Amino acid sequence: MRKRVAVLGATGLVGQRFVALLANHPWFELIALTASEGSVGKRYVDVVRWFVEKPILEELRDVTLAALNADALVKDGVEIAFSALPTEVARGVEVELAKKGVVVVSNASSMRLEPDIPLVNPEVNADHLGVIEQQRRIRGWDGALIKIPNCTTAILTLSLKPLIDEFGVNVVIASSMQAVSGAGLSGLPSMLIIDNLIPYIEGEEEKIESESRKILGSLGHRSIELNDHISISTSCHRVMVLEGHTIAVFTGLRRDASLEEVLRAMSEFRTNKIKDLKLPTAPERPIVIRNEPDRPQPRLDRLEGGGMSVVVGRVRGDAALRGVKYEVLGHNTVRGAAGTGVLIAEVLKERNLI
Ligand SMILES: NC(=O)c1ccc[n+]([C@@H]2O[C@H](COP(=O)([O-])OP(=O)(O)OC[C@H]3O[C@@H](n4cnc5c(N)ncnc54)[C@H](OP(=O)(O)O)[C@@H]3O)[C@@H](O)[C@H]2O)c1
Repeated sequence: MRKRVAVLGATGLVGQRFVALLANHPWFELIALTASEGSVGKRYVDVVRWFVEKPILEELRDVTLAALNADALVKDGVEIAFSALPTEVARGVEVELAKKGVVVVSNASSMRLEPDIPLVNPEVNADHLGVIEQQRRIRGWDGALIKIPNCTTAILTLSLKPLIDEFGVNVVIASSMQAVSGAGLSGLPSMLIIDNLIPYIEGEEEKIESESRKILGSLGHRSIELNDHISISTSCHRVMVLEGHTIAVFTGLRRDASLEEVLRAMSEFRTNKIKDLKLPTAPERPIVIRNEPDRPQPRLDRLEGGGMSVVVGRVRGDAALRGVKYEVLGHNTVRGAAGTGVLIAEVLKERNLI
């Protein structure tokens, strides 16, 4: 039996990625797509401005857009809701759905840092899903709320995980070059970004620093405990790239490691806590290493592993921090959003948590 799922905010850039990943999914049946009021009742194909590389599936041609109404979604039998709603819209409806028994996997940044809400990048911290039991107890919910990390945080923490496991990391300095699609369909006027670079993304640096400490933290007895052993400093930039965030990462390692050891740890890293599970959306290699001096590049590398792998290049020693530095690229709406959300739901299903 496939689980009945909905995509909330299905017409947006992240929403349509969810739709593309879920339309033919072996474990999930897409039964509802929502959008804002003006689009309700219209056919999805007539409303959506489709940016995914593959065309919209035939099966979706006659699907009409539903209202964002928790009671109606529950009545239709929705078991999992994938949320790609703006943060200000998300909080109320996500909580209402979780109360009513729906498992909500959400991209919106609201509630990401609450200690009983798992913030999950599956290959890094799938074990944090264990806090759901506590969440249900504290909040009296029949469903659950799980958060997907901020896009840059997802890419950064995946690249750091093998270094932390193998060598220990005490300091991370990260400077991002983020694609315009990260701001949503109507987020950034072309007049502001063409021929330009904007050295500020509101709230982004704070999100990466605080979310990374939670994702790289540990599952305590009653909540997620933050990682206090790593100092993270970030600087974020919007650049004129459509899709794919690149981050220049500088790390201090706790023990000496040769470049060969670092490259091996990254390229052999599989899926840590989910390594024995066969999940449809899990990439075969979460971290792909490129050896050419001018890679990774967004246009060439963002669809590696269907957009679920991050691509690392230019790995070299860092004398200042006594560690290594590298470039990492990831697809912001796939690895940094919808793909990670679908992978979370697959882990939940495989582990009988839903
Ligand atoms: N873009 C990224 O790379 C990225 C990465 C990680 C996380 N996120 C987060 O994911 C969420 C979605 O981002 P996005 O880039 O896909 O945004 P987007 O392109 O602006 O899409 C927003 C979606 O929400 C719907 N919506 C807006 N206001 C609504 C309302 N009042 N009631 C019901 N539905 C409403 C929109 O429907 P209409 O089309 O009908 O307006 C659309 O489907 C945001 O919270 C964002 O911060 C984005």
